[in-house]
Amino acid sequence: MARPYVITIASEKGGVGKTTLATNLAIYLKHLAGDVPVTLLSFDNHFTVDRMFVPALKKAGTDVSGLFTGMPMSELLIDGAHGVRIIPSSRSLQQIASTLADCEQLAGVLSGSGLQGILIIDTRPVLDILTQNALYAADRVIVPVKDAPSLENCKNLSQFFTENGLSRSTLRLLPCLVDTRIRYKGPFRDPYQLLKAYAINRGYRCMEGYIAKSPKVESLGTNPEGRVYPIIEQGRGTDVHLQFMHLARQAYLHYLENGPHRLGGVAHQRAEVALTQQRDLNRRRQRVPDHCLLCGQQMPETTPWPQAYYAEATDGSQSGFIEDDCLGDLIFQNFYGQHKAEAAQRSMRELFQESANRSYFVLRQQKNPATPESLFTFSRLDETGTELSSTDLTVKGGQTLGLRRRHHPVQEFFDIFFGESIQSRDRTILLRRCGEQPLNILTGTAYIHWQKILGRIQMEQSLDHTACQSEPV
Ligand SMILES: Nc1ncnc2c1ncn2[C@@H]1O[C@H](COP(=O)(O)OP(=O)(O)OP(=O)(O)O)[C@@H](O)[C@H]1O
Ligand SMILES: [Mg+2]
Repeated sequence: MARPYVITIASEKGGVGKTTLATNLAIYLKHLAGDVPVTLLSFDNHFTVDRMFVPALKKAGTDVSGLFTGMPMSELLIDGAHGVRIIPSSRSLQQIASTLADCEQLAGVLSGSGLQGILIIDTRPVLDILTQNALYAADRVIVPVKDAPSLENCKNLSQFFTENGLSRSTLRLLPCLVDTRIRYKGPFRDPYQLLKAYAINRGYRCMEGYIAKSPKVESLGTNPEGRVYPIIEQGRGTDVHLQFMHLARQAYLHYLENGPHRLGGVAHQRAEVALTQQRDLNRRRQRVPDHCLLCGQQMPETTPWPQAYYAEATDGSQSGFIEDDCLGDLIFQNFYGQHKAEAAQRSMRELFQESANRSYFVLRQQKNPATPESLFTFSRLDETGTELSSTDLTVKGGQTLGLRRRHHPVQEFFDIFFGESIQSRDRTILLRRCGEQPLNILTGTAYIHWQKILGRIQMEQSLDHTACQSEPV
């Protein structure tokens, strides 16, 4: 699968030349390597990119927000001037940002988009979630610095790389808007030398060279036509033209040497995670019997299933499904049933059903080591695992029914669930109602949430256990 090599231009400092750098670098790169597709997009909302490359942009509805809504890349790209393709800018960046949960989404989209060549991303002077996404996907991040404060701002970018386990060597500082008329006495003769020394001293790497401040370049965005002219067209006589050629050569060389390494890594990582998740799911599925644990009714091969509960022993030894009505009967006839009028029981059951989708349930058996007696507890927990209500049932060993000695139904359920061989003192089952696709509870965020609650109950159990052991005899 083709993937782009990504260059992100970022700095938390405003007005340091990010957009000028992103737009002109795209043109110089295309000029240098005509056969390489060069694409440009901006997470800024001043539309310089659009004005510069597609001045008469009429097509509405496609802009950078489409990257995060599953729009195919081919529909987002627009052929712009100078052979550069652009993805139009968006007016609703805030809205896009609010839909992004983490910094990995853009990398995921780009790694599976089929986009080829080099992609340049211009960013806003903030380290918001969009900039973070652009940084995370990058093979090369160029940080324009024009003075000491903008250099100090690099700290946060560098920290972002460290915190996300990314290589800081992706970052390259580039002195920009350098006033070449200024001269200093001492070892650093001009602002470029001084900035470079500051940067190296703080452990940053720099691109070779710099971009000088030029009145000609500054004037390229101010004209009666309302255009933003590229340096390669209108600024050929300036030093900045040569500096951009040198910069483009460095970027192109890195592209040739490394290729789209970052997104290749992201794709590989995602494939591995997906494979592990699939393996885990298959393992969990194999462990789950294909019938209701209480009535033995075979679950259909295809979904939708009847409403059911997923149940797992907190020691991880057993798991399975129980049909909605089977669990309802077990709970209401044994924990709530005996002393309640039929109408009261019915309304309690309705209440239970209504709240079941927002709850977890725990069934616990605590055996008395000295007698055949067991205390069974049924508790309802909220979505965070906090107990909301609880009811107890004491079972005094076996009951005599007719000639046969039979166990209490709740005892029987525990014996079926765990198998009679597992006779530990405490046996606990966590339950959660699932929808029409019950197996979905075994995968993705549903299972992650399940495990969180399971972990909480296990921790509480081990604290109980420790407390019991340390009680004075
Ligand atoms: N080499 C240069 N010489 C002179 N002026 C320049 C040069 N590069 C950029 N400028 C001017 O500096 C100003 C800021 O540049 P630019 O918009 O590229 O910065 P930015 O970092 O993208 O700003 P923002 O953070 O607001 O997005 C613009 O007016 C631009 O024309
Ligand atoms: Mg800008």
